[in-house]
Amino acid sequence: MNSLTRHYGADASLDEPSAREIGLWLKAQAGSYKRVSEEPPQDRITKSAWFLRKHRAGEVPPDAWTRAAVGSPANCSACHGNAAHGTFSEREVRIPK
Ligand code: HEC
Repeated sequence: MNSLTRHYGADASLDEPSAREIGLWLKAQAGSYKRVSEEPPQDRITKSAWFLRKHRAGEVPPDAWTRAAVGSPANCSACHGNAAHGTFSEREVRIPK
């Protein structure tokens, strides 16, 4: 939140009240248990140990990541249809062909 002008290659700057409100929300929601206590490489969820474990080749075919409808591991909602509502249940996963 302190470097939104350089947000993974994009300028994501916000007005001060919005940045403060979102920052407080992120702090309140952030996990603190061991699984998420290690900072992932480049600060990316998709490079964290738990993400790689949950999305290993046995769960997600390696070619799925580059399919047109997916494009990148960061496109959570391509496979997790309810991602926008914070739901990532494995019962609702559908990998696009
Ligand atoms: C290419 C499709 C795909 C994309 C993109 C994807 N996932 Fe997944 N995700 C899966 C599959 C498949 C599983 C494993 C389901 C299973 O265990 O049966 C999974 C599992 C998960 C789980 C564990 C669910 C559980 O019940 O244990 C979480 C949490 C999750 N993904 C979050 C994310 C997040 C956050 C993103 C984006 C940053 C993302 N996923 C992107 C396909 C995807």
